[in-house]
Amino acid sequence: MTTPRPETLAKLTPVLTKRWLSPDAWRIGTYEKLDGYAALRKALKAHPDDLIQLIKDSGLRGRGGAGFPTGLKWGFIPQGDGKPHYLVVNADEGEPGTCKDLPLMTHDPHSLVEGVIIGSYAIRASRAYIYIRGEAVHAARRLRSAVQEAYAKGYLGRNILGSGFDLDLVVHSGAGAYICGEETALLDSLEGFRGQPRLRPPFPATHGLYASPTVVNNVGTIASVPYIVLGGADWWKTMGTEKSSGPMIYSLSGRVANPGQYECTMGVTLRELLELAGGMQPGHNLRFWTPGGSSTPLLTAEHLDVPLDFEGVAAAGSILGTTATQLFSDQDCPVYATYRWLEFYHHESCGKCTPCREGNYWMVRVYRRILAGQGTHEDLDTLLDTCDNILGRSFCGLGDGATSSVTSSLKYFKQDYLDYIEGRTAPKLSDKQLVGA
Ligand code: NAI
Ligand code: SF4
Repeated sequence: MTTPRPETLAKLTPVLTKRWLSPDAWRIGTYEKLDGYAALRKALKAHPDDLIQLIKDSGLRGRGGAGFPTGLKWGFIPQGDGKPHYLVVNADEGEPGTCKDLPLMTHDPHSLVEGVIIGSYAIRASRAYIYIRGEAVHAARRLRSAVQEAYAKGYLGRNILGSGFDLDLVVHSGAGAYICGEETALLDSLEGFRGQPRLRPPFPATHGLYASPTVVNNVGTIASVPYIVLGGADWWKTMGTEKSSGPMIYSLSGRVANPGQYECTMGVTLRELLELAGGMQPGHNLRFWTPGGSSTPLLTAEHLDVPLDFEGVAAAGSILGTTATQLFSDQDCPVYATYRWLEFYHHESCGKCTPCREGNYWMVRVYRRILAGQGTHEDLDTLLDTCDNILGRSFCGLGDGATSSVTSSLKYFKQDYLDYIEGRTAPKLSDKQLVGA
């Protein structure tokens, strides 16, 4: 294993991850010793509008996948409308390969709680929710304990730190449906309904929880806020690129020597991330990878030097998404990987709209046929045609995301499909696995 070059090491910028390895980092005593809640004290002395301006100036963009400007979103909340306002943290991290929010909430829950309090003060919300996915039992325990500690210290509840600002924070566990990570399905679920997406617009900023103005932000977005309040917008912008500012937690998984979270300045490349992570596993050469989870089009070994920021990845024909880089080697099959992702989307499709509900069902069947050695050349056209009928015609992003690996694997690895169809690759599925999609 080679040692990373100094210029690559300089791309490591532990900000949100800086406390993760401290003993008992999740306890309020440790958090306070390491600057914890100092940002809140500072923020409560500022005017809420100035905080929104600070976040706008920092250029912070949503860390959930879409990269929407956070300050702009906060600024959409109408003021003086007489309605309650809500801040809802989307902690329903469920995108395959994505695992940046879970360790953050487990190791440093107070940074999220502190960010929630500052964000709620800025948008004038007196009630906030953290919606965490049902399977994240340990992280939910840590969060609930952090919330209790924050109440006991006067950081939550009535008249926070004597400022006159009141806030209640509820940690709500979902029941493990991927669709509840879609922000409007999440709101429906929080209201006690079956989680299914709502039509947008109107966006939650004006018609959100209980039809009131609501900011829905990802865990990493909100946890960034205390650092920006303490360090300032200019400091935040020293990391990253002009349009994608700050550090980002990149999650490396798959055929990499040292998988895990690497918090780097935005715009780092996969080549550099691999240098930090000790390269590929011995005997494996990179063949394809996801830049941001399975909803983002695949990239290949040709894309090692693509800057991993919102613009750089888009220019390469993909999406930065959740920065979940799943690495596959020359010993992995892109057809099979795509099939497994499609099974996931088919299983998680909420069924509300026809293109996604039916399209994913049929595509799974076509993949099974191909992988069982019974595919035809027409199947490839069927797949592309089905994707064409899902993309842009589905009710929410789940349908669009499902098509990403299908179209990109056909673009880069059509020969792999043909090898199954023309009998050069041994079938991966048996006849028995053909049915039951
Ligand atoms: P989007 O681009 O439609 O919206 C992003 C955010 O901006 C939303 O909060 C939306 O309410 C707000 N927004 C957009 N336009 C607005 C306007 N005109 N007025 C007010 N607010 C506005 O993206 P979406 O569908 O919310 O998220 C898609 C992303 O989610 C994908 O890029 C994917 O990478 C990511 N994703 C993340 C997962 C995870 O586990 N973290 C799971 C699945 C997808
Ligand atoms: Fe439901 Fe899929 Fe339609 Fe989204 S695209 S509303 S998940 S059926």
